[in-house]
Amino acid sequence: MPVPSSRAPRDARSDWWRSAVIYQLYIRSFADGDGDGVGDIAGIRLRMGHLADLGVDAVWINPWYPSPMADAGYDVSDYRAIEGQFGTLADAEALIAEAHTHGLRVILDIVPNHTSDRHPWFVDASAAGPGASERDRYLFRRGRGADGELPPNDWQSNFGGPAWTRLIEPDGNPGEWYLHLFAPEQPDLNWEHVDVRADFLQTLRFWFDRGVDGFRIDVAHSLIKEPGLPDIDGREYPPARVEVDGELVRPPWQSHPHWDRDEVHDVYREWRAVADSYDPPRIFVAEAWVDEPERLTRYVRSDELHTAFNFDYLQTPWIAEDMRKTIVHTLDEHEAVAAPATWVLSNHDVARHVSRYARDQSDGLTRQLQHLLGRPADLALGTHRARAALLLTLALPGGAYVYQGEELGLPEVEDIPEDALQDPTWLRSGGSERGRDGCRVPLPWSGETPPYGFSQGSHAQPWLPQPPDWSPLTVAAQAGDPESMLELYRAALRHRRQLAALGEGVLRWRDDLPDTVVAFDREPGFTCVVNFGPEDVTLPAGTVILASGHVAADGQLAADSSVWIAR
Ligand code: NOJ
Repeated sequence: MPVPSSRAPRDARSDWWRSAVIYQLYIRSFADGDGDGVGDIAGIRLRMGHLADLGVDAVWINPWYPSPMADAGYDVSDYRAIEGQFGTLADAEALIAEAHTHGLRVILDIVPNHTSDRHPWFVDASAAGPGASERDRYLFRRGRGADGELPPNDWQSNFGGPAWTRLIEPDGNPGEWYLHLFAPEQPDLNWEHVDVRADFLQTLRFWFDRGVDGFRIDVAHSLIKEPGLPDIDGREYPPARVEVDGELVRPPWQSHPHWDRDEVHDVYREWRAVADSYDPPRIFVAEAWVDEPERLTRYVRSDELHTAFNFDYLQTPWIAEDMRKTIVHTLDEHEAVAAPATWVLSNHDVARHVSRYARDQSDGLTRQLQHLLGRPADLALGTHRARAALLLTLALPGGAYVYQGEELGLPEVEDIPEDALQDPTWLRSGGSERGRDGCRVPLPWSGETPPYGFSQGSHAQPWLPQPPDWSPLTVAAQAGDPESMLELYRAALRHRRQLAALGEGVLRWRDDLPDTVVAFDREPGFTCVVNFGPEDVTLPAGTVILASGHVAADGQLAADSSVWIAR
């Protein structure tokens, strides 16, 4: 079947988000328009054609606000302005307008759990001294021990080390401690404080008034802390799986002092009312690493957020049975709250899936590569599986995310020199964890050698070094090559827009294929077959619309491949 050549006009429905494919644009690494080696708004505007050609419905842009960059922009010092390295507010407004003319919606990233330690509120709080009301917007506490020399509780930072830092008070003496679930430069806000709640509502309106279509909410599940900030006492989050009848299962849910507390939902009900007051209504997607689909779908009840990233899917190994289970769970739980599922394979916090799928999958969860580093990797196999995973992802009911660079088949860069690593995880873990830089390496656009056209009109060294062997992976090298990852993405996205069966809707499992195959029908007249291998499999009757790998003339689908079939 020929690939339709034109994009459908922009989807004008107000429920576009229920089936949207959203491209995650990691601004520092997408394209550099001013030639300093760091991606920026000018770069995005120059390369907008790439996004339009790809055929996605929206972009989600990682934080672009003023920031000292202790955590690549997730330490925000002003929520209603643009970081100088990335451009100006006028540039941002121009970008939003241009994206809309290309039929692309724009989603920003909001960071409500913490600010930067250079945010005026924290600067004032630090200067004001113990007991001052300025400190109430954060979580300052006296330390334990005779002189308050020990952290107030046993909470740990996500980046390693204690989640508390002791301040040197204005009188020059060590004083109170403040909470930071991430880096010390990211103090946690106190969401019981009226100023905090009101200020974020104002920030939402500020960007909605500028035409922004929605927000991705950073660590949406961490805002509320248990009163009294009790010790965690070694309880793991997510809790370790327990063995029942020879199978590893999740233990019963238990409340936690700072993750996924029930009270957080009140915040999002307020936010939803603001989003709904706009015409067209604006939308939210939650970043919430909660362990159970049932807990996740609480965030997407009809008066709360619209969608949530499905990290369960991202963490599922490339094994048919595991994948089927994850899909069944996800769909069941989302159906219960009438919200659409989302499907995510990679993002800026996890090892790229080409490299995850290149490893032996029987090692269990594959979110982080750390425990796999040094083990054999077959990148050709990983790429093969990533192609198959794309057709699976885009055929499932609901919406999907594409993390920039996956359309080029980029692998994780596992050998960035240690002195070039920038992720706070590297330093905070004392060098035991390399962190997330390997999936954040600037995109290769053209040419034979780094910087592969990343910086417009300059050969500036990109902020993270690119590998010397990426020339076959550039956009220019792949465009027009029907065998390339890029052309597979383009074709799949074009078909998805044209095929009435795809997007939201129901899925019916097929039971006429071996257990090592995930296969399902969508109506009207569409079948997706994914062969996890190791054997070839005979395809059901129909016309192949698109295949990720080899389909023999007699209808045999090779291992680690998938097809879309018109029945
Ligand atoms: C989740 C973001 O995706 C990650 O990059 C960041 O480090 C943390 N939240 C803290 O904001």
